[in-house]
Amino acid sequence: MRHKTLADLTRPKGTVRTLSQQEELPLLRDHLLRLDRTSRHDRFHGYMDDSFIERYAEKCANDGTTIIAFFENGVVRGAAELHPPDQSPDSLPEIAFSVETSVRRRGVGSILFRKLMTVARAKGYNSLRITTGAQNEAMRALASKFGAQLVFRHGESTGTIDLTKQDQTELATSWADNTFNAARTVANLNRAYWQMLLRMSGWSRAA
Ligand SMILES: CC(C)(COP(=O)(O)OP(=O)(O)OC[C@H]1O[C@@H](n2cnc3c(N)ncnc32)[C@H](O)[C@@H]1OP(=O)(O)O)[C@@H](O)C(=O)NCCC(=O)NCCS
Repeated sequence: MRHKTLADLTRPKGTVRTLSQQEELPLLRDHLLRLDRTSRHDRFHGYMDDSFIERYAEKCANDGTTIIAFFENGVVRGAAELHPPDQSPDSLPEIAFSVETSVRRRGVGSILFRKLMTVARAKGYNSLRITTGAQNEAMRALASKFGAQLVFRHGESTGTIDLTKQDQTELATSWADNTFNAARTVANLNRAYWQMLLRMSGWSRAA
């Protein structure tokens, strides 16, 4: 009988699949609602309350967003979001990830990322965009593992992933500083993205 290695013991046990449209609202919503305060801050660039998350999941279920989910014992513990290109300021499909604390650092984010890239290629996309806080070390590590080139400005970072370079995934790429013009472009893109989130939270109406 083969002895179990450390990798065997720590490998995530679960299944990964794309949610149907009917599943998206309840399953994505309940997963996102289980995220703790810090995780919500990281995922949504600031603490977002339950009602925001409920509206966000509803929007995803109705706007053509593809959700790839990691299930453990029948419960969604991780999700990768692939948003339609028409919602992005530069028409690149935006992607985002969330993994519940109980299953982090066991490769779930990487499994979701890999599956998302396969799904995106099948849709004919050549490039993806990811936006996250500059202090988000976990997401930075995950994105750079899959070849994202990121630029920073004003505490935020945005990167693109080139899907045409099949063999480039998981090359460890550094998070390089870029030129002022590139950073300014990114700042504008980030602003549009966060404004979308703020509009959903109702904050921009109050401002
Ligand atoms: C970012 C996130 C999805 C990563 O999920 P995960 O399942 O822990 O990721 P993995 O286990 O696949 O780790 C991927 C890589 O990142 C590294 N990593 C993960 N967390 C890290 C951390 N906190 N600090 C440094 N590196 C980290 C891992 O070591 C791994 O690298 P390796 O394969 O070379 O060893 C998860 O931390 C999360 O949901 N955070 C809150 C929400 C969020 O920030 N979303 C991003 C906004 S789009």
